[in-house]
Amino acid sequence: MKDEHDSGAISRRSFLDYGIRAIGTFIAAVVTVPVIGYVISPAFAKKEAPWVQLGMVNDFSPDVPKLVQFSRFRKDGWVEVAEKKLVWVVRRGADQFDVFNPRCTHLGCFFNWEPDAKRFRSPCHNGTFDITGKVTGGPPPRSLDTMEYKVEGGQLSCVYKDFRLGVPEKVEL
Ligand code: FES
Repeated sequence: MKDEHDSGAISRRSFLDYGIRAIGTFIAAVVTVPVIGYVISPAFAKKEAPWVQLGMVNDFSPDVPKLVQFSRFRKDGWVEVAEKKLVWVVRRGADQFDVFNPRCTHLGCFFNWEPDAKRFRSPCHNGTFDITGKVTGGPPPRSLDTMEYKVEGGQLSCVYKDFRLGVPEKVEL
């Protein structure tokens, strides 16, 4: 049979027990929440398209398309992936350029510049484009895809993007 003294001791013991558990839970939360945040935050980080440098403006002669290769580092969650990319650059004026995605808008073959014919030609299905990127023959459903560019301090940069293939609209992927 328990007296008042015993039930007081039990309730004190229970109180201490709850208190210790509460402190333990609090400490676990303080340690765990930042760790979880650190692990998953890259997955939710805004993926910004980086500007990539293509060369000095004077590296490009007017109306002479030039293929430029560069490496870019893309964050995929918490992994950083290096990838090589190409763009065609056509200087249209002092600081005016067309920067083309290098893939044909039909099914994505890499096209070339044919200086004698003064045209871009996709070897897969003989799609052709003029120097401004406009379709001049074959099955491509739209002009070559241009990319945003800027000139700062004599340096030409662009934001590389890929687009959906085989459709008349330019749709960013
Ligand atoms: S991929 Fe260029 S014409 Fe078909």
